[in-house]
Amino acid sequence: MRQTYKNIILIGFMGVGKGSVARVLARKMRVFAIDCDDLIESFANKKIIKIFEEDGEAEFRKIEKNLAKFLEKSVNGAVISTGGGFYKVKNLNKIGTVIYLKSSFDKIMERILNSPNAEKKIAKRPLLSDLAKAKALHKERDETYTKKADLIINVEDKTPEQIATKIIKLLNKKYLKG
Ligand code: S3P
Repeated sequence: MRQTYKNIILIGFMGVGKGSVARVLARKMRVFAIDCDDLIESFANKKIIKIFEEDGEAEFRKIEKNLAKFLEKSVNGAVISTGGGFYKVKNLNKIGTVIYLKSSFDKIMERILNSPNAEKKIAKRPLLSDLAKAKALHKERDETYTKKADLIINVEDKTPEQIATKIIKLLNKKYLKG
């Protein structure tokens, strides 16, 4: 019997490329890409960095939880890119098929630092301001990302195009041919 997925939801560490992959994947699948951080910014009417500074991380996490409820209830057939801490919401697996974009911390930093707008990418992420802490966070989260994922894709040294193609192949294998 054919199975379908409600949404495809990309999880993984900050800067791993969830947003870029989501846009390419959505285009290939002819569906819409939705970014959780973009939705949170429009909900709060301010940038993530300002939410952290003015309201605190706890408030940001509260908004993430509310967004997760909204996505579960109201969104179908989309590719959803999440913020690096979104995986903690209780209903993650009810939102859709969870795909972990996996990469070592060093490769993530290499990717960010080699991008044309590296400074901006670091400045907009409050939890990347202290590299030692960010590295420890990556280590701590890797295990949980793995546990929560229906599929894990190693994205090191791959383009969004290659990653999206691989995701489609794996999804077809897992859900359409089984
Ligand atoms: C966070 C990751 C960020 C953003 C916020 C918190 C995290 O998103 O949601 O700064 O806890 O890892 P990206 O993963 O897109 O950087």
